[in-house]
Amino acid sequence: MIKPQFDITDKLTFNVPAKSSFYIEVFSDEELLEALAWAQINNQHILLLGGGSNILFHKDFDGLVIQISHKGITVLNDDGRFIEVVIGAGENWHEFVLYAIEKGWGGIENLSLIPGRVGASPMQNIGAYGVEIIDVLKYVEAINISTGKLRRFKVEECELGYRDSIFKGREKGKWAITRVAYTLDRQSPLKMSYGAIEAELSSIPFETRTYKDVSDAVIRIRQSKLPDPAVLGNAGSFFKNPIISKVDFDKIHASHPDMPNYPQDDSLVKLAAGWLIDKAGWKGHDRVTHGVHDKQALVLINKGGATGGEIWILAKEIMASVKEKFGIELEPEVNQIR
Ligand code: FAD
Ligand code: EPU
Repeated sequence: MIKPQFDITDKLTFNVPAKSSFYIEVFSDEELLEALAWAQINNQHILLLGGGSNILFHKDFDGLVIQISHKGITVLNDDGRFIEVVIGAGENWHEFVLYAIEKGWGGIENLSLIPGRVGASPMQNIGAYGVEIIDVLKYVEAINISTGKLRRFKVEECELGYRDSIFKGREKGKWAITRVAYTLDRQSPLKMSYGAIEAELSSIPFETRTYKDVSDAVIRIRQSKLPDPAVLGNAGSFFKNPIISKVDFDKIHASHPDMPNYPQDDSLVKLAAGWLIDKAGWKGHDRVTHGVHDKQALVLINKGGATGGEIWILAKEIMASVKEKFGIELEPEVNQIR
């Protein structure tokens, strides 16, 4: 049922006040198609919502918010090693990770504890601790918002890149993702080389380590630096890690030899936005209702009572400050609803 003047605040991990003119939660393609038709007839803008963990509303939304809540986990194929599984877009991502680990299916254990839903996993090609969705994605099923037609995007058609996809880029706002299929692997090797995973696992003999051990290690590392949205409003990393030319990198590196850097190829280097923001003096910055997390400068927080507009003002000041100090343009990672 479409609800008018709906308060969506508690559907957003940033916990900023926001209303939408209309709201509906849909659990099937049929319900989604009805909602899309209603919006067309009533001339309403559409905004799709999953778990609300990567989105910042600057103000109320003038239109229909459709929360995609399709459920279901179906194994399409299992040859004894590889499992092809298709999941409803509304399933919780972390619960699916735990389900896969329980079944002995490897490939997504490093993506433990990422908030949000399955449907958003290809949106920005979610990634953490050396794994991205592109590594396991098989296809995405989505309904075209204007025509209502269902299309299957093979992984190579999703144009996945670092925190990017066709759905966030070229075809932004055109598709409602309803199901996502992944290929998992019972013999997928454990990936322990990223960050502090190896150190976290040092007490467990190498040969006995399991997907669950890696997942537990990732969870512990994440909990040590990222705020729990149930306690402190946030949307994870607010900015993307910038990728700059090797030529520009060499210039900055000369005066900041301790700067973390991740060469992408011969000509491009990724930098740590958290380090840049930290060095520019923003870590722990406090504006009473909101600020910059004191354990991870890449995370902006709503301590209670901040509006999305106020958080955006802080974000713009941080961008200007990093630009002035390092000459680097930060780009928001969180989706901005202005
Ligand atoms: P939402 O926030 O609801 O939506 C995100 C975007 O996708 C919006 O533009 C929305 O319109 C669109 N969208 C959502 N669902 C659909 C759909 N079914 N069809 C079409 N469009 C849709 N991300 C990482 O990649 N790695 C991390 O390590 C990570 N850590 C995080 C830690 C914390 C504490 C938090 C709060 C966030 C973190 N994130 C991370 C960001 C976030 O969890 C992911 O981007 C997640 O995939 C968002 O899912 P969601 O369902 O909440 O999407
Ligand atoms: N750093 C600082 N100060 C800070 C924060 C970070 O000096 O305040 C330094 C760290 O010491 C480290 C480097 O910056 O040398 C990178 O920090 P970290 O390992 O915490 O990872 P990140 O690059 O900040 C990225 C993702 C996270 C993901 C982690 C782990 C982006 C934008 N962020 O963070 O994703 O969980 O790596 O893979 O790519 C998200 O997208 O919301 C998110 C949390």
